[in-house]
Amino acid sequence: MSGDSGAVLAPPGVQRDGGWATRGRLAGHVAIVTGGTRGLGLAMATAFLQEGASVICAARRETSLADLTAVHGDRVRVATVDVCSAESVQSLMDGAMRQFGRVDILVSNAGVSRNGKIVDLGEREWREVLDTNLTGAFHCTKYVVPCMDAAGGGRIINISAGMSSRVAPGAAAYSASKAALEMFTRASAVELAKKGILVNCIAPGFVNTGMYEPLRDDERLRSRYERMMVSGRPGEPSEVAAAAVFLASAEGSYVNGHVLEVNGGLLWS
Ligand SMILES: NC(=O)c1ccc[n+]([C@@H]2O[C@H](COP(=O)([O-])OP(=O)(O)OC[C@H]3O[C@@H](n4cnc5c(N)ncnc54)[C@H](OP(=O)(O)O)[C@@H]3O)[C@@H](O)[C@H]2O)c1
Repeated sequence: MSGDSGAVLAPPGVQRDGGWATRGRLAGHVAIVTGGTRGLGLAMATAFLQEGASVICAARRETSLADLTAVHGDRVRVATVDVCSAESVQSLMDGAMRQFGRVDILVSNAGVSRNGKIVDLGEREWREVLDTNLTGAFHCTKYVVPCMDAAGGGRIINISAGMSSRVAPGAAAYSASKAALEMFTRASAVELAKKGILVNCIAPGFVNTGMYEPLRDDERLRSRYERMMVSGRPGEPSEVAAAAVFLASAEGSYVNGHVLEVNGGLLWS
């Protein structure tokens, strides 16, 4: 295990009275963030590193995270994975166990969006969205459980979206995948509670990174979506990352099966 102190730590699912400091809240813990190479995933990985965790940033493409490595050294690892493939996810978990000997936190963040009205949407695009956003989280949950079991517990955080419960024409595949992911979160929470594994979901609104950027740069779409934002602005990646740190840390030890909307207030369309 990778704790800076080398001390044996309780898994993050178990809170020891007085045993947790307000800084370094994830010290010694090991996190996997799928889609952790850019956008929201990278923001959450960075926040976990700042809280003392070791983090594996996993995505399909090889990416150099030289800036992060310069600051956090070998607590940062980059791994390739395609969450659509069970074999690929299993080998991600095997690699994590080889490198760190434990996995305490999983963020199933890898996601794609393919827009198109239902009558126009190709079956290929539909499957790509469902396979990545929903089946990908199923693979990651299924294969991380033995690792967490070995550590005595853990935290799983799935990344849904405000569109899981709001309708936008052309977003049927994305919205359906995220709504199903929220139900999968609740089902996982019930099934894994006895293992000390807490499963929660963050549903971000529009966040100033990643897949929001094409909307932000399109005047017509931006004004349509800005009307939904009660706070009058998109969120910052760090504002979503702060919620992930809360759910991953001892402070979130009595939150389970919850969908946490982090959207500054979002109107129903
Ligand atoms: N940005 C927002 O406003 C917003 C709002 C609500 C929800 N979200 C959710 O937040 C998550 C991250 O979104 P983002 O905006 O940061 O998107 P992004 O910048 O497009 O990043 C997506 C990440 O997922 C990885 N990925 C995609 N398919 C994958 C696969 N099959 N296997 C492994 N990794 C894969 C990508 O890397 P590779 O391409 O190299 O694989 C990339 O690292 C998504 O689940 C999204 O639905 C975002």
